[in-house]
Amino acid sequence: MKVWPEAIAITKGEGVYLIDEDGNRYIDAISSWWVNLHGHSHPYIAQKVAEQLSVLEHCIFAGFTHEPAVRLAERLLGILPAGMSKIFYSDNGSTAIEVAIKMALQYWNNKGIKKKKLIALQNAYHGDTFGAMAISGRSIFTEAFTEFLFDVAFIPFPGSGNEPESIAALETLLQQGDVAAFIVEPLVQGSAGMLMYDAATLEQYFRLCKQYYTLIIADEVMTGFGRTGPLFACNHITTSPDIVCLSKGLTGGSMPLGVTAATQDIFDAFYDDDRTKMLYHGHSFTANPVMCTAALASLDLLLMDSCTGNRSRIANAHAAFAATIGADPLIADIRQTGTILAITLKTNHPSYHNNIRDILYRFFLEKKIIMRPLGNIIYILPPYCITDDELSYIYDCIKEFLSNQ
Ligand SMILES: Cc1ncc(COP(=O)(O)O)c(C=O)c1O
Repeated sequence: MKVWPEAIAITKGEGVYLIDEDGNRYIDAISSWWVNLHGHSHPYIAQKVAEQLSVLEHCIFAGFTHEPAVRLAERLLGILPAGMSKIFYSDNGSTAIEVAIKMALQYWNNKGIKKKKLIALQNAYHGDTFGAMAISGRSIFTEAFTEFLFDVAFIPFPGSGNEPESIAALETLLQQGDVAAFIVEPLVQGSAGMLMYDAATLEQYFRLCKQYYTLIIADEVMTGFGRTGPLFACNHITTSPDIVCLSKGLTGGSMPLGVTAATQDIFDAFYDDDRTKMLYHGHSFTANPVMCTAALASLDLLLMDSCTGNRSRIANAHAAFAATIGADPLIADIRQTGTILAITLKTNHPSYHNNIRDILYRFFLEKKIIMRPLGNIIYILPPYCITDDELSYIYDCIKEFLSNQ
């Protein structure tokens, strides 16, 4: 609190804009921490949520079920990568990850097979709860807790030509035969700085895991629901994961909800008369009907042709803009996957707390654009309703920042 400026009081959300108490309208260029898909306070989601609130606002999800949860599970299974067969609800991205870790470890335990190791990618970010921190790259976020985090093997990030090294590192670990699961943010590592890698590498990872009888957990908390172009980043490849984690855009960004989807094979390992084989995990708000209704409404919007069209439009606009500034001497790297555009600026001290981060943040805020640079990395990850004019305005402001340096 001591080092941060006073928070801006937001009183209204409207499409791509967040509006403060003084009437200032900010373009939410980062979808409020990557959650918003269709714009703020979307009237369709609001209407469905209001209707649901007066019918059934919440109900225990143990021994009871309800239509929104069942319908959402059925609809998600219809669009998730092939092989997903069961949906486990929780209430945010980190919990979706915790459930995935527990599922993977207990899967082998229930089968009486000794596989306990977890593999993740260097720099990974999977959330702030303890299990999620343990499988995330060690960083300033985890520093105070290092001794409390269980051991995880990290393989190198597959960027800048070292894809073969990363793939080889994974295979070496898998060969030891004791790996329970490999967890990965497919194609884009969000918090690490919107670091991107190619689909061929992801495919290789997944094939190796299948070959060595290791579970694959795809963390689509950030990449899910169209951010990378298709509905899920795993749709860029043909091999399917065993577990998929979802949250953020699941409700269109209107409410917290987490999903851990799994294959029938995983479900079967828990389906037993022996109660010790049960997955003992649940949250008070698991499968809350209002959240599930928000997710159903968001899916209605997401699956419209107009939304697919908007995602291509944003991707094309990003590509055209990137082509115009790629050669700028201040830019170390510019990259794009679908609707996500990221720019690494040249700086002597690249780190999360780099001074340039604050300079950039303030510059864009003054321009009434909400950007949260990751150190010296700026990125645009907008709601899909953003117009061409609004995109152009953001691009122009980036150019202005570069030309002022
Ligand atoms: C890839 C990924 N996984 C998990 C999480 C954790 O989600 P939540 O913030 O809802 O706990 C995040 C959050 O940014 C994320 O980017």
